[in-house]
Amino acid sequence: MSEILFDVGISDEVYAKEGMSVILYVNPRMMFEITLKEGDCFTAQYGAFRHNDIIGKPYGSKVLSQNKKGFMILLPYFSELWSSCLETRTQIIFPSDIGAILGLLDARPGKLFAESGTGSASLTHAIADSIGLKRQCLEPSFEDKLKYGHVFTFEYHSLRADAARAELYKHGLAHSATVTQRDVYSNGLLPNELIDIDLKSNQLLSSLKESIDKGEGFYDGIFLDLPSPWLAFDHAAQAVKKGGVIVTFSPCLEQCLQNNEKAREIGLIVGKTVQILNREMDTKRSKMKAPCCFFVPSSTDGKRRWCCEELDLKPSLPPELDVFTQTRICPLQRTHTGFLTTFYK
Ligand SMILES: C[S@@+](CC[C@H](N)C(=O)[O-])C[C@H]1O[C@@H](n2cnc3c(N)ncnc32)[C@H](O)[C@@H]1O
Repeated sequence: MSEILFDVGISDEVYAKEGMSVILYVNPRMMFEITLKEGDCFTAQYGAFRHNDIIGKPYGSKVLSQNKKGFMILLPYFSELWSSCLETRTQIIFPSDIGAILGLLDARPGKLFAESGTGSASLTHAIADSIGLKRQCLEPSFEDKLKYGHVFTFEYHSLRADAARAELYKHGLAHSATVTQRDVYSNGLLPNELIDIDLKSNQLLSSLKESIDKGEGFYDGIFLDLPSPWLAFDHAAQAVKKGGVIVTFSPCLEQCLQNNEKAREIGLIVGKTVQILNREMDTKRSKMKAPCCFFVPSSTDGKRRWCCEELDLKPSLPPELDVFTQTRICPLQRTHTGFLTTFYK
């Protein structure tokens, strides 16, 4: 691998350092991502938090607000938390779908993927996190990308592409992800390195180009989250390896049908369509007063039954019967997000 420019092995870090992206965590539904900078201050409804009070603290610490009345928990960046609090520039793929997508793509170190559109790079971070071996080199050569695994992500909106590139760099993932501004319907999904180059000058590139021209493809998997994925299918079918997978995310079944029709027309194998339904639970134990009816051994015949009149037994109940586990479905949560479909070449 080429020169190690900047070791941002965030998951190996114990302390929050200046320049790092960290998460200030309140609860599963409220957290904030900040980049630590000496002298800066982050203000939320829990108070004002000085970056200087956070820099140097170990992860897992409580960080107090300036007036010491509020606190949050300091956690390192990782992609699942980040997807829950990133600044959304588009609709994004959420963690429950991300888990399934990584499984469907078989995202593992060393593999090569293409993705479009990049959008807010929620999924891009997760793929880059799964395939990169170590966050070491922020400017990998093309040979490094092939050797260590890479996701090439394509977005036609230039500001979104720039923002995604900057965030991946900040999170130390530039070694595993390349953002390219491109309209994939017209210009396809092959990396820039394989387009408009003098093939004669590079043996590796010319042999790759030759195998792509023979229909052998380049990527292990391709993910499409586009308004009309079927318009990118000819390019995706050319760019994916034989035996590779294309996964689409579509918010409605009508889109899935159009994808399937196009896929059959060009000889792709249509796999399955799944909808991931997430059900988050609130689970807690709490001490409760005796309810008006209680399931207890009867004082008269010793059998267990619901028995209101047995309430006078309450003082002699063992203490563990006073502790209830309460579970309920979280009142606010996403249900339908979209349908994921697999296609094989
Ligand atoms: C729903 S967003 C993708 C969100 C992304 N999967 C995420 O998790 O953050 C769809 C993106 O596709 C981009 N897009 C639409 N048509 C495109 C095309 N022809 N080529 C490249 N990108 C395109 C849009 O600009 C938009 O940013």
